[in-house]
Amino acid sequence: MTRIPIILDGDPGHDDAIAWVLANASPELDIKAVTTCCGNQTIEKTTYNTQRICTLIGLHVPTAKGRSCPLVSAPIIAPTVHGESGLDGPALPEPDFDLVPMTAVELIAKTLQESDEPVTLVPTGPLTNIAAFLIAHPELKSKVKQISLMGGGVQFGNWTPAAEFNILVDPEAAKIVFESGIPIIMAGLDVTEKALIKPYDFERIRALNNPVAKVVAEWLDFFYQFHTQLGYEGAPVHDAVAVAALIHPEIMDMRDLYVQVETEGDFCKGATVADFLGVTGKAPNAKVIMGIDRDAFADLLVEAAKYYNGEVAK
Ligand code: RIB
Ligand code: CA
Repeated sequence: MTRIPIILDGDPGHDDAIAWVLANASPELDIKAVTTCCGNQTIEKTTYNTQRICTLIGLHVPTAKGRSCPLVSAPIIAPTVHGESGLDGPALPEPDFDLVPMTAVELIAKTLQESDEPVTLVPTGPLTNIAAFLIAHPELKSKVKQISLMGGGVQFGNWTPAAEFNILVDPEAAKIVFESGIPIIMAGLDVTEKALIKPYDFERIRALNNPVAKVVAEWLDFFYQFHTQLGYEGAPVHDAVAVAALIHPEIMDMRDLYVQVETEGDFCKGATVADFLGVTGKAPNAKVIMGIDRDAFADLLVEAAKYYNGEVAK
C-alpha cells in the first residue's frame, strides 16, 4: 500500500482529537508531523492537549506549537463547546515527549524539505499556520500535494449565520489558503453536520474497552452534551471528516466548486461563498464535500478505536 504522507494541524478540541485517533489508526496515512493552532482554546491549551492526545495514542512524531493568534483578527475561543481546557471530560496522560524547538511554520517547512514526495496538509482548526507557512515559504508550495481541511460551509455557518468557526477565527488566513492554487478538499458544515456519531455508536466504541476507545467514548459523551442541548441526534465529529476524505472518499459526495472567502462585512465575514452556477467563470479551487454515508463513517471510527486493541496491524 502506498501511504499518504500527512501533517496534522489542529486546535484540539474533541473532534480534532478523534480525527487524530482515526488518522493514527489508518494504514493509508503516514503522519510526519503535528502542529497546533489557536482556535477552540488558547495556543497553550491546544498545544498541551495535543501532547496529551499524542501520548495517549502513541503518536510520537515531531510536534510544534503554532502562532498564538490569527494573522489579523482577534482570537475567538470556544469554551462553551470544548470546555475551559479545550478538551474537557476524561482524564488524559501527561505528555511523555517534548515539542521540537521550532515554530509550526518551521516544522511544516522542514518536513516538506525532507520529504521525497509532496505532503498532504490536514488542518482541522483555523488556517493560521497554513497561511503563515505559505507566506513564509512560497518556494515550498509545490511540495504540498493537497490540503484536506475542516472548515467553512457553502450553505450556512455555525458561529454566525454565514461563517463556520475555523474560517471565522482567521478569515484572512483562509483567503490565502483558498487562493493558493493548492488542491483543497473542503469538509465544511455541509457534510460535517451530517457526520453525526450517535449515542449507540458511543457504546460500540466504549465496549471495545481499550484505553483509547474508553477515552474516545468519553470525548463523545462530552461533545454530545453541548449538541444535545441544540437538538442534535448525535455528535457532529467535524474534523474526522477531513481525515476520512483521504482514506475513504468513496463514502462521500464531493462537488468541484470555486470557493471564495469573505474577510469583511458585518454579517458575512468568514463566509465561504461557492459559485454553484459558474457565474464567476473561475475554475474550481476545492472539492466541497456535500454528503456522507453516515453509517460507514461511524463504522470507520469504531474500526479506528479497535486498532488500539492491537487487533489491526498498521
Ligand atoms: O466548526 C467546527 C470546527 O471548529 C471544528 O474544527 C472544531 O474543532 C472547531 O475547531
Ligand atoms: Ca478543530
